[in-house]
Amino acid sequence: MLQILFRGTRTTPSYRLAMRTFHLGEFTVRRMGFGAMQLPGRGVMGPPRDHDEAIRVLRRAVERGVNHIDTAQFYGPDVANQLIREALHPYPEDLVLVTKVGSLRDAAGNWNPAQRPEQLRAAVEDNLRTLGIERIGAVNLRLMDHEPDDPAQRVPLEDKLAELVALREEGKLAGVGISTASVAQVQQAIEQADAVCVQNAYSLLDQSDVAVLDLCDEHGIAYVPYFPLGSAFPHLPKVTDDPAVQAVAARLGATPAQVGLAWLLAHRKNVLLIPGTSSVAHLEQNLAAADLALGPDDLAELDR
Ligand SMILES: NC(=O)c1ccc[n+]([C@@H]2O[C@H](COP(=O)([O-])OP(=O)(O)OC[C@H]3O[C@@H](n4cnc5c(N)ncnc54)[C@H](OP(=O)(O)O)[C@@H]3O)[C@@H](O)[C@H]2O)c1
Repeated sequence: MLQILFRGTRTTPSYRLAMRTFHLGEFTVRRMGFGAMQLPGRGVMGPPRDHDEAIRVLRRAVERGVNHIDTAQFYGPDVANQLIREALHPYPEDLVLVTKVGSLRDAAGNWNPAQRPEQLRAAVEDNLRTLGIERIGAVNLRLMDHEPDDPAQRVPLEDKLAELVALREEGKLAGVGISTASVAQVQQAIEQADAVCVQNAYSLLDQSDVAVLDLCDEHGIAYVPYFPLGSAFPHLPKVTDDPAVQAVAARLGATPAQVGLAWLLAHRKNVLLIPGTSSVAHLEQNLAAADLALGPDDLAELDR
């Protein structure tokens, strides 16, 4: 029987079933979700290379049981949300759409800060409008990678979280999340906004965020790694190119992407995956990673 093994844990069928889901605030979602960032055109700008394939990817994901999709109005901009709406609206009742706010694209594709409370509010409204929903499952406050040059954009975290809490109280979002955040920022988001999820970069090749992962685990909140395969950005190393990953994959008759994803699922129970792809073939592979058995030897080899 296919199974995911947790280190040092003997699994039973009911335990394994429970391990396929985790809560995202008030919702219970399958741990294997989908990230929509690869659906727009090159550089996450403009229409997709293959519109019909993008629609097929989304429909197939939901058909195969995905009920957690990560998106953002700034993917495209608007493109990812419009594709999701075109492919899936009216949405299945159990589908949880999660988005992020805090940035705006310009015509050149730059990711400019939009961290002021009124901009966060406008971004939530934009997401509601383009997705065609009245309440977003969770909204991640996407902090900037670097301190913004513009002093007007250096807004205290407290004020940004307060705006998202206000939007939650108004019924426009169900849960507050935070993204690209340090331990201290995540701690503040938990204390001030009862955060339900954290979205930070994490993969087999980049485990530098383990302290945040552990903090989320301690608090029982979802940790949603972005770049789980190393991203589409050419300058970042790819999990699928790693020789150790390739060796384990060959031994198990799996693909390297599946090994990278199965390792994340086995790594901590509060990890929710949102691998991004623009192809149905890759989507099918990624979804099947939820059934891939990684034994103690595989995990030890990958950890090394
Ligand atoms: N909060 C944030 O700041 C933030 C930042 C980045 C991303 N995200 C979210 O996280 C999600 C995941 O991150 P990501 O999409 O940037 O990176 P990723 O999932 O690590 O990798 C995506 C790349 O992997 C390729 N890929 C996917 N499945 C594959 C497979 N089975 N075999 C080989 N290659 C495969 C994709 O190409 P193909 O399209 O050809 O499959 C694409 O180039 C995003 O979609 C987005 O929703 C959030």
